[in-house]
Amino acid sequence: MTSTTKIAVVTGASSGIGLATVEELARRGFHVLAGVRKQHDADRLASRNVEPVIVDITDEEQVAMLANRIAHDPQGRRLGALVNNAGVALNAPVEATPLAEWRRHFDVNFFGHVAVVQALLPALIAGGDGRLVNVSSIGGRVAFPTYGAYAASKFAVEGFSDVLRREVGRLGVKVIVIEPGTIATPMWGKGIAIMDKLAATMTADQHARYDDLIAAMHKQAQGQAASGIQPLRAATVIADAIQSRKPRTRYLVGRDATLLAAISSLLSDHMVDRFVARTLGLTARLGKPEEPATADRPNARATVSSVEAPLAVLAGDASDRRNIASSVPTTPPGPADWLVARLK
Ligand SMILES: NC(=O)c1ccc[n+]([C@@H]2O[C@H](COP(=O)([O-])OP(=O)(O)OC[C@H]3O[C@@H](n4cnc5c(N)ncnc54)[C@H](OP(=O)(O)O)[C@@H]3O)[C@@H](O)[C@H]2O)c1
Repeated sequence: MTSTTKIAVVTGASSGIGLATVEELARRGFHVLAGVRKQHDADRLASRNVEPVIVDITDEEQVAMLANRIAHDPQGRRLGALVNNAGVALNAPVEATPLAEWRRHFDVNFFGHVAVVQALLPALIAGGDGRLVNVSSIGGRVAFPTYGAYAASKFAVEGFSDVLRREVGRLGVKVIVIEPGTIATPMWGKGIAIMDKLAATMTADQHARYDDLIAAMHKQAQGQAASGIQPLRAATVIADAIQSRKPRTRYLVGRDATLLAAISSLLSDHMVDRFVARTLGLTARLGKPEEPATADRPNARATVSSVEAPLAVLAGDASDRRNIASSVPTTPPGPADWLVARLK
């Protein structure tokens, strides 16, 4: 796609992946409408090829104004790309997450994107050869404990994207899902702050049930905030997909996302449960853990032990990837070999 005469819209552009994507698309020659919620963010972002627009994606009036801005572009430029990136996150056990938080997550992470798509799709179709990018997450494929509201909203984004792709592909719009692993953005700090706030409202019984889990997730979130890859990596994947003549339907971003996607497709659900528990250092609370069964995913071929070494990477113990490669059984060749190949 040639970018010089096209408009690109990015929602959630004040920080993180959204901000990096705005900068990358502007650098590549798009006129970028950068969606932010606060005037001071708009003032900060305005620059060559970057035109900030105030848009809270849960506010129908502001979404309509964005569509109106595109319809009346002073230079008659067409909409070439829409990046649905805005998002919120929290960590809390299902039973301790207030319904208001479930609704807020779906309002921002799902319904807000639906609203933007409905408002901008006609312009994207009219522009010809349009790209519609939904920023999901590896959490939209593999759901870790305490990510209930977040993962559920991202699973919704995944299904929505498949439907949309099959509806509008024939109208010339290519729908692309981006599935990042851990990216170093302010999202992790915000999530930890909400986690602490919600933990303070939990009952004594809930504390007894979940304190070990919350402590494990706290540790993981802090580690991820520090060890995540830079947002530019995700922005580059997004911009490349937008400019690709034949983009893929899904792009994983980061080694952790690639590994988790592979593991979840190779192992049975019970094995993935054990994998997640071990990754977080959690032990079974009631009796012995169930023996892993493969019946829930008949095609699963790997064993937990065959992926224990890659598992160490996800747990943050990436001391020596060559040792990991050599410690994975090599005969008979199978899914583990494929995983090792991805690690190299
Ligand atoms: N960071 C990761 O590791 C990671 C991994 C997988 C997927 N993702 C996804 O990547 C996307 C961007 O997240 P990020 O990590 O870059 O986090 P971030 O830096 O916290 O950015 C989130 C953006 O969403 C905006 N936003 C929140 N609510 C909004 C609303 N109602 N309307 C419009 N914008 C709103 C925020 O604006 P304000 O500043 O005004 O709040 C901010 O610009 C999200 O969809 C997230 O789920 C992130």
